[in-house]
Amino acid sequence: MLINTWYVACDAADVPHDKPKHVRMLGHDFALFRDRSGKINCVSDICVHRGGSLSRGRLHNGCIECPYHGWRYKADGACTEIPAHPGTNMPKRVRVDSYPVEERFGWVGYF
Ligand code: FES
Repeated sequence: MLINTWYVACDAADVPHDKPKHVRMLGHDFALFRDRSGKINCVSDICVHRGGSLSRGRLHNGCIECPYHGWRYKADGACTEIPAHPGTNMPKRVRVDSYPVEERFGWVGYF
């Protein structure tokens, strides 16, 4: 993988507004999802809890929700909620990797 190079992930029209989309690029799995404003975001497809596939989850208030135990992540990868432990003071290290994404000319790409 070349660093600091644009890669096209998919056609922007292929990223639904109501659920995440899985993309596999260069041997890595990613989850693309739209926040409440419609902006496309990209995070690792591997939940830090038990490795669930985030792209198989759903959207909740602009966050992506893991299909297994419902942990929710913001666009920057930070975990915002653990349903089994409501009100948890979330440690900053509870997060998935996130990647900068832009829409250009109808394509979704990231660095
Ligand atoms: S594996 Fe994702 S919340 Fe448990």
